[in-house]
Amino acid sequence: MRRYDGRRVLVTGAGSGIGQGIALRLLSEGAQLVAADINDEGLKTTIEAATEEQRARLHTLTLDVADPESVSATVSAAVEFLGGLDVLVNAAGIMRAGHTHELPLDVWNKVLAVNLTGTFLVTQQALPHLIETQRGVVVNFSSTSAFGSVPYMSAYAASKAGVNAFTHAIALEYVKQGLRAVNIVPGGIGTGLTAGLDLPADADWSLLARLPGWIEGGMLGKPEDVAGAVAMVASDDGRYITGTEIRVDGGALM
Ligand SMILES: NC(=O)c1ccc[n+]([C@@H]2O[C@H](COP(=O)([O-])OP(=O)(O)OC[C@H]3O[C@@H](n4cnc5c(N)ncnc54)[C@H](O)[C@@H]3O)[C@@H](O)[C@H]2O)c1
Repeated sequence: MRRYDGRRVLVTGAGSGIGQGIALRLLSEGAQLVAADINDEGLKTTIEAATEEQRARLHTLTLDVADPESVSATVSAAVEFLGGLDVLVNAAGIMRAGHTHELPLDVWNKVLAVNLTGTFLVTQQALPHLIETQRGVVVNFSSTSAFGSVPYMSAYAASKAGVNAFTHAIALEYVKQGLRAVNIVPGGIGTGLTAGLDLPADADWSLLARLPGWIEGGMLGKPEDVAGAVAMVASDDGRYITGTEIRVDGGALM
């Protein structure tokens, strides 16, 4: 399938996990793509994973989504490299865990700054370019934690619930300019984020039991599982899908 021939895409968080999987999938379907991430070493692995032919359509940029100046410079550079922008994928994100009554304010603020404010900042800079195409798409990253209750991740869950509402708001606000905006809701996907989950030492696993993929021996999804859904929804195959969620959670929320 070459659904992205001639389409210009910016993916944040593209140096690892789901964002990297999406970048590689959209490149394989013909996209011109900017992969952006705070982690330059991660971006090198994205370049290495691309084929030689794909590398000619791939550009990488260092980006801190929580820093307005970095966002502004990166979106400008991405638009210059691509000659415009058709699709924005906001996959950059972090997770921090802990007992809520002990959670330091700076950890709460950091999670909100990257996951929620970061999504806002990149989208805000990209919107004029997405609107110009009259068929722009924003794909944002939510989580099952914003829909089903999870313990020890209140900051993360709150940030993702904010992303949900933000996506719905812009989907309606710009619908007449041809914009589509969709939330992807992954369940447990095997990436650095889940591997690094820093649960409290005394975490009550009976409370975590509703997260099937994260229980030892449970089945985690793969970044490719999420990338396939994103490739569909951000292509013309998804043209009647906006202001909604696509769950890619192995049935965790059923
Ligand atoms: N893995 C899961 O189970 C899961 C479940 C639900 C939602 N998600 C969401 O999917 C998205 C991708 O997560 P992942 O699992 O691939 O994690 P990951 O840690 O593998 O990748 C996240 C990427 O974001 C980058 N990043 C972090 N802070 C950044 C910043 N300030 N600026 C720019 N880049 C930054 C990291 O360097 C990393 O490359 C995240 O938004 C995450 O919350 C993941």
